[in-house]
Amino acid sequence: MKPIVLCFFMLVTFWAFQARADCPAPADKSFAAAATALFNCSSSRPLKGGDGERKFQVHYDFPTQLPDTSALPWQSIDPFADPYRYMTTILQYATKVNARPEIDWRIEDNKTEQWCDAPWFHMLREPLHGMTSERWSRPKELHELQTAWARTWAVGIYNNVACYGLGQMWKDPSFPKTKGFAFADGALGVKMLFTNAMPAQVPFLTGSKEWDVAANDDGSIMTMRLLQMDISVKDKRSPNGWFFGTFMYDAAQPGNTPYDRLIPVGLIWGSDADLTSTNYLQGTASAKESWVNPVAAAHFYSLPRHTLGLFGRANGPVDNPLSACITCHQRAVDWGRAVQAKSPEEKEAEVLLPDAPADPFDAAAAKKYFRDIGSNSAVPDTQSLDYTLQVSKGIGAFRNWGAEAFPDHASSTTDVPPYPFKSTVAHAMQELPQAVDVDRFEMGTEDQSNGLFQR
Ligand code: HEC
Repeated sequence: MKPIVLCFFMLVTFWAFQARADCPAPADKSFAAAATALFNCSSSRPLKGGDGERKFQVHYDFPTQLPDTSALPWQSIDPFADPYRYMTTILQYATKVNARPEIDWRIEDNKTEQWCDAPWFHMLREPLHGMTSERWSRPKELHELQTAWARTWAVGIYNNVACYGLGQMWKDPSFPKTKGFAFADGALGVKMLFTNAMPAQVPFLTGSKEWDVAANDDGSIMTMRLLQMDISVKDKRSPNGWFFGTFMYDAAQPGNTPYDRLIPVGLIWGSDADLTSTNYLQGTASAKESWVNPVAAAHFYSLPRHTLGLFGRANGPVDNPLSACITCHQRAVDWGRAVQAKSPEEKEAEVLLPDAPADPFDAAAAKKYFRDIGSNSAVPDTQSLDYTLQVSKGIGAFRNWGAEAFPDHASSTTDVPPYPFKSTVAHAMQELPQAVDVDRFEMGTEDQSNGLFQR
């Protein structure tokens, strides 16, 4: 090899190594090795500066036996009669060890409890705390002094009961088992949401917990403050199997640590399907499947958003005011196949699984979104992922990567049937080679046509 060619080759190799420094490609080029390497990757986003800062380490401490769920502290509290205490008891359980300054949510350092992360977020996680980018807060969504858009980054972790479920799904990182998936009662997700809004614009953030987050596109660091803390709890007392609760940081509260100054904002166990713009504005209906803390709600009442979730449903300060926690979360499904960004399949998926209506007065759109599905899947013929959106997004990322990097292998990595998108069928027809006997295709048995559809 000529020296100049060798130099170029070394440069390219170096560049490739730099760009994926935290996701080294395995020497073994098999699907299983590549899938396992990415599963174990903590972050593939850049870091600029921050020398000496400790890096996020993805942690999959999945118990192989279902942990004892008989004495979880919140189970003796009635969530409907005493939502405040139900929520604060869960907050204490989540922060007891994880929030100690020497641990500070590095769950791999928590040697007395088992917590874990959700797989397949390396491409979205920033390298310092494993946080991912969330919805931005519009001016005046957080406070009347807020004139600038504020960014939100967040990181979610799971307790041992939930980790057991994740471990069952991901026992083999090259073949996630989602068929019949459900978490056990007692599963808990905890999510911390940080904003880059400054206390001058959002005064109730004064004195909140700060983290350096490598949130800029070039990997440089910004200081962010804890604004919101979310919990999702699998609890059979909820008609939909789950309670979603949220806390906000409030500088006016007493307490020695920022965690002491978190107050419950609301708890939600259903979508209040019958609460419409009409009956809400007429004052003949209100949210019955949410509890909202009046002290927290008072921060937002005079702002354009007025309420936290649509028409008084529970939601968090940084969440979309036209939505509600559980309604968005019930959309966690596995399509059993890739749904690539901007593909016809993605367009179809958006119709099947609509987002919060842009116009809250569009009654038909609201009805499609705000419904209660219990333990069913939000879309017939898909596998429910039990209200857990990091799990569905992670499964989606795995399936999209598989379809792109190993197209011939991807369809043999699902134990649920691929969703029969109409566009996939149309696409398969279009791509039929000229020589194919179309009559046979049209008349074909189901087996034959399935073979063609899978191309
Ligand atoms: C408009 C959609 C939407 C709304 C509304 C919403 N979330 Fe989420 N939530 C998500 C997405 C997407 C994720 C996963 C991605 C991530 O964490 O970056 C998530 C993750 C979580 C997690 C981590 C466990 C999981 O499901 O992956 C918790 C806990 C959580 N949310 C609680 C809440 C609570 C409590 C509320 C209401 C205060 C809420 N969410 C409102 C979309 C939503």
